[in-house]
Amino acid sequence: MGTLIDGRAIAEEIHRETATRIATLKAHGVQPGLAFVRVGEDPASKVYVGMKERTGTRLGIRSETHALAETTSEAQLLQLISRLNDDASIHGILVQAPLPRHINATRIFAAVNPGKDVDGFHPINAGKLMLGDEDGFVPCTPAGIHELLIRSAVPIQGAEVVVLGRGNIVGKPMAAILCQKSRHANATVTICHSQSRNIAGHCRRADILIAAMGVPLFVKADMVKPGAVVIDVGVNRIEDPTAPSRSRLVGDVDFENVRAVAGQITPNPGGVGPMTIAMLMRNTVRAAELVCRASASD
Ligand code: GUN
Repeated sequence: MGTLIDGRAIAEEIHRETATRIATLKAHGVQPGLAFVRVGEDPASKVYVGMKERTGTRLGIRSETHALAETTSEAQLLQLISRLNDDASIHGILVQAPLPRHINATRIFAAVNPGKDVDGFHPINAGKLMLGDEDGFVPCTPAGIHELLIRSAVPIQGAEVVVLGRGNIVGKPMAAILCQKSRHANATVTICHSQSRNIAGHCRRADILIAAMGVPLFVKADMVKPGAVVIDVGVNRIEDPTAPSRSRLVGDVDFENVRAVAGQITPNPGGVGPMTIAMLMRNTVRAAELVCRASASD
């Protein structure tokens, strides 16, 4: 039976470190500021942004949320981002994905000042991650998974890692983090996606299996090498006639059965989710520290 990787406890440990840094910033007269931008009425996005905002407030980050109508044009959204880029009290800007279809998300993410891009979605930050330049901001979910692995003493050097999913938010940056020539990386990384052949065969080779493709309960026990570390990024709503709301959330991993063969496994919820938020807070504080340091050396 695999041991649980307690994302909530590890996130709290990181929050304590972040709170100390916030206290230091405040002693220098700086309060970190984080702006959330949400477009439309996606219920999951509302929940996520609400959770991120509350955590920020708890830690002493000043948060503001800009909730825009579904009909907001790309030009209007770009205008708001430009205003936030110019606002010295805002150190981090997060535009919650997904955006409505009439808005070009790539253009929006590229409009955020890279120094305020606490999501790590700007092409400059994505490029820095690929190049192994540690100056940039790393996307929060893969950065959080990396911290989970490190703080759970999972050997990464030389490990076979299989990442299921090739999205820009998790899969691709996750692979880039773990294959870097650096400490806590140096893994052999395989990315599987919807067109991959023999996904189960790839999975069975993995020492670390990271499921981030958004397919409910995709990873079954017979796809997991005994003793492997399994990380479940999925948040999928499925129908359940027995549940009060007639639906419930499940991950990409068939948790109970996979746990029986895994060495370590993230619960879901309580695994990756809290770490995404912890990394957002840490990135925001880092953004504020960089501004503080730059103005001190002027
Ligand atoms: N949608 C799903 N995950 C994320 C995330 O980490 N950041 C943003 N901005 N949107 C998301």
